[in-house]
Amino acid sequence: MNINTLPNITLSSTPTRQDSLSQLVCVERWNETADVVSFRFQAGEPMKFDYKPGQFMTLVLDINGEQACRSYTLSSTPSRPYSLMLTIKRVEGGLVSNYLIDHLQPGQMVRVLPPTGQFNLFDISAQKYLFLSAGCGITPMYSMSRYLTDTQMNADIAFVHSARTQADIIFKTSLETMATRHRDFKLRYIVENVTTDTVWHTEETLHDIGRLSANNLRDLVPDFAERTVFLCGPEPYMQAVKKILTDLNFDMSKLYHESFATAVKEAQSRVKQAEMQSANQVNASASFMLSIGDKKRALTAEQTLLEGIEAEGLPIIAACRSGVCGACKCQVLEGETESTSSMTLTPADIDAGYVLACSTKLKSDVTLSLG
Ligand SMILES: Cc1cc2nc3c(=O)[nH]c(=O)nc-3n(C[C@H](O)[C@H](O)[C@H](O)COP(=O)(O)OP(=O)(O)OC[C@H]3O[C@@H](n4cnc5c(N)ncnc54)[C@H](O)[C@@H]3O)c2cc1C
Ligand code: FES
Repeated sequence: MNINTLPNITLSSTPTRQDSLSQLVCVERWNETADVVSFRFQAGEPMKFDYKPGQFMTLVLDINGEQACRSYTLSSTPSRPYSLMLTIKRVEGGLVSNYLIDHLQPGQMVRVLPPTGQFNLFDISAQKYLFLSAGCGITPMYSMSRYLTDTQMNADIAFVHSARTQADIIFKTSLETMATRHRDFKLRYIVENVTTDTVWHTEETLHDIGRLSANNLRDLVPDFAERTVFLCGPEPYMQAVKKILTDLNFDMSKLYHESFATAVKEAQSRVKQAEMQSANQVNASASFMLSIGDKKRALTAEQTLLEGIEAEGLPIIAACRSGVCGACKCQVLEGETESTSSMTLTPADIDAGYVLACSTKLKSDVTLSLG
């Protein structure tokens, strides 16, 4: 498709269907660290993108003839609306992160679902911010920080980022420039391994060595209890931070977090899918019948709708596989189900029977519509 004929991206509703896919062209890429690359995207002709700082977008790719979908936070800010940026960390053994880093070049197109996500600056109100991130979990915090420093002179932000080494700090120069320019933007780093040649870039950026703890959080951000916390990072880091905040008697109703963690669920799902290919096993353990059009699949009460849909080879977009991205929305026409997540669904969606296939199991025979 010619770049000039690209359709405009539709940004108003939760993505669900193939027809809400849009194409973007990659216009630039650069290395952030040894294993992290940022990509900038634009539409075919100059247009403004409208999204909320902290939201993510789902890429729908064709890799070796198979559809692969993954969600990535928009590390750009809507206050600079003419392009979108994704910042992607190479995951060892990972399909999509390695594919993008090794193959996506300026001039090439990607298909995307519209931005979505509740972990964003507009839907969570706060007077004073505490951004806690580790590794690639910095991406939503970076978008939020850029938005706040672009649009409010005195936004009160404390940003504590944890990284393995100083060389692994993503957006380091840009963050330090923000800290230098904005009096109320307090940037702190916690670095696990410090080499002898470590040079801290600015005097404004305090740092600590090791890992985030109750003690260094108190030292680095003495007024942490007055702040609304936004948390994102690897699962063990997020668990550790939640424990620290609990131990410090932090008001947990002011804690908001985003999880990128899909690896384990994905791996488990693949294993289960392989198991399902054994018809004997499926039949032996099946309890309920899933009907989609003229397809029928027996599922146990432990299997998700998504597993049944994929086992039947039916088209569905599933990126996070953990009830976060909203891509696998589908409608229950008949029967009873149980969901562990309804994130991204509106009350009207839920009333109309929509569920997230990756997070929904059968409690009776079910008839489903993929729309
Ligand atoms: C809301 C959201 C926002 C996100 N934002 C970002 C972002 O800004 N930047 C970013 O880099 N990432 C982000 N992610 C994570 C991203 O979506 C991907 O999960 C990540 O890039 C890894 O995808 P992959 O295809 O490379 O790895 P996968 O192929 O999904 O593999 C993940 C891991 O599982 C292992 N694995 C794969 N298959 C198996 C198997 N059969 N058995 C055992 N192990 C297996 C792999 O070795 C790897 O370690 C976000 C995720 C979500 C949900
Ligand atoms: S695949 Fe993301 S919500 Fe189901």
